[in-house]
Amino acid sequence: MFEPSSKKIMLSVLVVCFAIQTGLVYSDDVDIVLSADAVEGRELYHDGSCQVCHQLWGQGGFLGPDLTNASSRVDETRLASLLTVGSGQMPAFDYDADQIRFMRAFLEEIDRPDVGRGQLRLGDPATAVTPQGAFDATVREKVSPVALGGFETFASGVCSACHFPFQTSVVGAPDLSTVSERLDDSVLHEVLTNGRPERGMPPPVPALSAAQQDQLIEYFRWLNDNRADLMSDWELRQGDRRVDWSRLDWWEFR
Ligand code: HEC
Ligand code: HEC
Repeated sequence: MFEPSSKKIMLSVLVVCFAIQTGLVYSDDVDIVLSADAVEGRELYHDGSCQVCHQLWGQGGFLGPDLTNASSRVDETRLASLLTVGSGQMPAFDYDADQIRFMRAFLEEIDRPDVGRGQLRLGDPATAVTPQGAFDATVREKVSPVALGGFETFASGVCSACHFPFQTSVVGAPDLSTVSERLDDSVLHEVLTNGRPERGMPPPVPALSAAQQDQLIEYFRWLNDNRADLMSDWELRQGDRRVDWSRLDWWEFR
């Protein structure tokens, strides 16, 4: 039904959406610091094997309700009753008043509807912590007047969904800060007009005017001339807030 090249494009687009969503979710700030009471509650949560029946942040069993937002639903009296005499298939735990208080603190502090939502943080140097955000902030600060138009086109188009700063992206879109060394202007015009559908780059939509193409080429040249400088500024901006994909967060089971 579909041409192989359009299948490839669709696949690339899906991979890109997945990568962006994953990036947004994992770059969220989830370093919640628990109070001393809540840390006690967390101990109790593990000791009582609550996770066998309940979920927190998507992890755990399914017999009981998800407890991520339980503190907004379950009032003090009901919690006390659940943790002492139990209810239905929820076993009795015979907690004393302190233990109930600790569990309450734990459930309250992990109930964070503000955490875990994807957010785009683009353009603002103060919040630019994603690689793309840090890159945009760096460019905006330093860009020359001739290259500005090209940058705007690049940033407002979907180019940055596939082309990442200073690296080849997962879909094989190359680093464009070195493209002016590789390709001469006529080839660049060709790519910017027709894309390279057979290799994963669709023709730009909406089509780029000749003037926009010239501006993009100016921008690529400016990137190349200032590459080392931009790269170090870009790395600085990300600082130690770079996504550490291997780190397990605190709510994971021990
Ligand atoms: C054997 C499975 C099981 C274990 C273990 C268990 N629960 Fe439950 N829990 C349930 C079930 C089932 C319910 C629903 C009971 C009901 O609605 O009558 C429930 C309900 C709850 C609720 C009320 C949730 C709501 O939204 O109404 C809380 C809070 C709760 N459990 C906390 C805990 C804590 C804390 C622990 C560990 C100390 C724990 N549970 C251990 C099965 C379990
Ligand atoms: C769906 C992903 C995707 C999008 C969107 C995309 N590209 Fe590409 N682009 C690629 C891929 C993949 C290649 C590598 C093709 C190849 O290997 O020849 C590429 C190659 C290029 C090249 C040639 C680079 C080289 O070194 O050969 C240029 C220039 C380019 N893209 C510019 C752009 C611009 C400007 C935009 C936005 C208008 C854009 N691209 C949007 C995926 C994309």
